[in-house]
Amino acid sequence: MSRIRIFDTTLRDGEQSPGVNLNKMEKLEIAKQLERLGVDVMEAGFPAASEGDFQAVKLIADTIKDVSVTALARTRVEDIDRAYEALKNTPHPRIHIFLATSPIHMTYKLKMTPEQVIQQSVDMVKYAKEKFEEVEWSAEDATRSEWPFLAQVIEQVIEAGATVVNLPDTVGYTTPDEYGNMFKYMKENVPNIDRVDLSCHCHNDLGMAAANTIAAIENGATQVEGTINGIGERAGNVALEEVAIALKIRSDRYSYETGLKLNEIKRSSDLVAKLTGMYVQANKAIVGRNAYAHESGIHQDGVLKNAETYEIITPELVGVSSNTLFMGKHSGRHAFKDKVKAFGVEMTDDEIKAAFKNFKTLTDHKREVTDDDIYTLIMEVKTDQSAMNKYTLETFQVNYGTQNITTATVALNTPEGETVQTAATGNGSVEALYRTISELIDYDQKLLDYQINSVGGGKDALAESHVQLAVEGETVNGRGTAQDVIEASANAYINAVNRYILKMQVEKEEVVNR
Ligand code: KIV
Ligand code: ZN
Repeated sequence: MSRIRIFDTTLRDGEQSPGVNLNKMEKLEIAKQLERLGVDVMEAGFPAASEGDFQAVKLIADTIKDVSVTALARTRVEDIDRAYEALKNTPHPRIHIFLATSPIHMTYKLKMTPEQVIQQSVDMVKYAKEKFEEVEWSAEDATRSEWPFLAQVIEQVIEAGATVVNLPDTVGYTTPDEYGNMFKYMKENVPNIDRVDLSCHCHNDLGMAAANTIAAIENGATQVEGTINGIGERAGNVALEEVAIALKIRSDRYSYETGLKLNEIKRSSDLVAKLTGMYVQANKAIVGRNAYAHESGIHQDGVLKNAETYEIITPELVGVSSNTLFMGKHSGRHAFKDKVKAFGVEMTDDEIKAAFKNFKTLTDHKREVTDDDIYTLIMEVKTDQSAMNKYTLETFQVNYGTQNITTATVALNTPEGETVQTAATGNGSVEALYRTISELIDYDQKLLDYQINSVGGGKDALAESHVQLAVEGETVNGRGTAQDVIEASANAYINAVNRYILKMQVEKEEVVNR
């Protein structure tokens, strides 16, 4: 078996998904879960893009010890310097620099000649090499580049010190045979190619990202780049869980393995979905809610007689459990602590205290608290930022009836420590609630998207809401959980406004520090 390295870019390419904006605590929790999953490299962000990105990469680099942490940079000295500042405390840093090599990108976007692209790539790899042992260079839009030119650039960046060469299908345009042949061509035509790890990076615009990735592996790629749940620009990146499980289940055809702890896949998928608000479709391969459900009578009958009749992957392989029933209102702090430990999540005493308090409140309303509920409560506390508690919900009431005008009354604590209260009407409970809250908040707000989901099943399941707001024209996301759907909706709305406030604070600091 040859070992394929897994390069996760959930926090960089994945975070570029429309509508996703994670705060640094959320990014850190995802990074820790990626470490538990056993990825080889994690791309934590693009430090030159903004102060927020820089701070998040730095926090991850300062914390993660067992996985190589990388950051993206354009072929510019200032980007490389910024990445170095963010990564300098991590034990296994890597810089990832990129420049486009396709005629369309060189002519229209870069306005550079092919010779200039080679020179700039070589110069910046050499510059990066003075600061980093591991230098990854990516040929953006490789799949629409001319192969002989690509071979020429690759040879020269390797000569300049690159240790990993990545050939992205940036626009998701390639096909399995074409992508595989491109890797084969580079293996045969770049004389020094064996000195580097060759990497593939597929986008899913034509739905072929996983097939293209496997084709690259079969033709010499030793590193796979992708994201959890396949999130990313436009139609997303290749879903890492799909590649890892395909290699495992079809090991009769593919003699490659990854270092992923496969039974951490479901937990990783759930966390990314929860924190990004990008829930996976029910029929998504490997991690979808229906991926292990058998509906038709014939299938159910077959599975009961022998699971292998219709089941090629066992749910246990990817960590899908039958959602162990956990505790009820008599469970103590000790048992709660044990549970936190079992999840592999590190919590301070104060964090445990806060999560346990929320757990106790939950048990007042919910008889059976599941692993999913507990994990949600833990993540609420882990990703909370004190500065985010600018507005808090004090009380609310919504009167809804088919014959009434729906009315909401809300009391909020403001950032200034005052309590403000008002009432408003709407066509439904959420509309009335959101109108009332928005009247109490000093910023201009527009609701762009609203989602409500349940955590696990059952009629007393926890509710989880995601919203997207434009606050003063800035798009921000918010997330809220509660026993009740209306309360979860209120929490998500207020959370989005608080995130706007936090974002403004970070941007102000950026101006001051410049
Ligand atoms: O898709 C792409 O080309 C990228 C590069 C920045 C590596 O994400
Ligand atoms: Zn990409």
